[in-house]
Amino acid sequence: MTKRFLESLSGKVTDRPPFWFMRQAGRYLPEYREVRAKHKNFLQFCYTPDAATEVTLQPITRFGMDAAIIFSDILVVPDALGAEVSFEEGEGPRITPITDAAALGSLSLEALEEKLAPVYQALRQTRAALPAETALIGFAGAPWTLACYMVDGRGTRKFDVTRRLAEADGLLFSRLINLLTRAVIRHLDLQIRAGAEVVQLFDSWAGIASGDLYTNYVVEPAFRIVTEIKKMHPTVPIIGFPRQCGVKCLDYVRQSGVTAVSVDDSVTLSWVRSKLQPVCVVQGMLDQNLLAENKTAMLNQAAEIIRELKDRPFIFNLAHGVLPKTPVEHVQALCDLIKAS
Ligand code: CP3
Repeated sequence: MTKRFLESLSGKVTDRPPFWFMRQAGRYLPEYREVRAKHKNFLQFCYTPDAATEVTLQPITRFGMDAAIIFSDILVVPDALGAEVSFEEGEGPRITPITDAAALGSLSLEALEEKLAPVYQALRQTRAALPAETALIGFAGAPWTLACYMVDGRGTRKFDVTRRLAEADGLLFSRLINLLTRAVIRHLDLQIRAGAEVVQLFDSWAGIASGDLYTNYVVEPAFRIVTEIKKMHPTVPIIGFPRQCGVKCLDYVRQSGVTAVSVDDSVTLSWVRSKLQPVCVVQGMLDQNLLAENKTAMLNQAAEIIRELKDRPFIFNLAHGVLPKTPVEHVQALCDLIKAS
């Protein structure tokens, strides 16, 4: 059985664009909320293989995406390194901030494999349960984005503490980035060995790294991660997602060696078509706000994206994750449109 998603990542133009959506398993789905309600602690939920498998499969069962992304979170890596990570109801993640050498010194790679064993178990179970035509995606947060949460200690919009530390103490910050780079390589390698057929690197906060910070902490770690994963798993495609980077994502693609790049509203459709598609496989780029708020406009935008990008290898996705307020019916209409394209 050929998998449309893998065909596209290998550089082929498929009968229609393969599709999946970031955060396709999540709070917009009533069946997700039902399972979620049984697990008070979000990280423990992620570490329960049966629950993670069940919610990974939910959107596939309902909508038939071409790929499933394993249900987990980017913050399992800091958690496995020994940082104190928690999710507060309605407030997002909290981490005891890593801002000095002593705090950095308390982190270690040693327990990562054991601590994240439930994630690998969920991947094995999910792979066994997926339809033959559906591919399985593993993922990790990129070092810069993980560092943002670890240094600021919580989600903010600008991560001022992180950017100040990166400018003021390059030595300490580089040590943190190096540790995270090694942790991400190990986590992706273990996910591939457990059944992930593709991996995606989420650099959600790449857009706030300017100048040297972008080169040193976004592009360079991506290059190291891609190089090491390709050495161990030469046939496994790697999708990079340097979010909100605009045309700078072309440097990221050229210098990191990713197989595909996920793009958002920081670039235009015509730029993607003329400058990015000739260089690599593109994934993206429907506005997730439109998906939540305006069905007609959303379907028009989706049709335009497909029309413009379908002549070269292209994977349909959103600019960012599905919002919790998104009506299921809008997602259904979008899936129907893509399948009929
Ligand atoms: O369906 C999927 O996409 C797979 C699962 C997945 C989750 N998080 C589940 C989740 C993936 C791929 C992620 C990635 C992730 N996590 C990112 C990168 C992508 C992005 O959104 O930019 C980031 C930055 C995180 C960190 C994170 N996790 C935050 C900031 C939050 C709180 C904000 C929020 O949306 O609630 C989470 C929690 C989280 N991760 C939820 C889910 C489904 C919601 C928690 C819940 O159900 O209560």
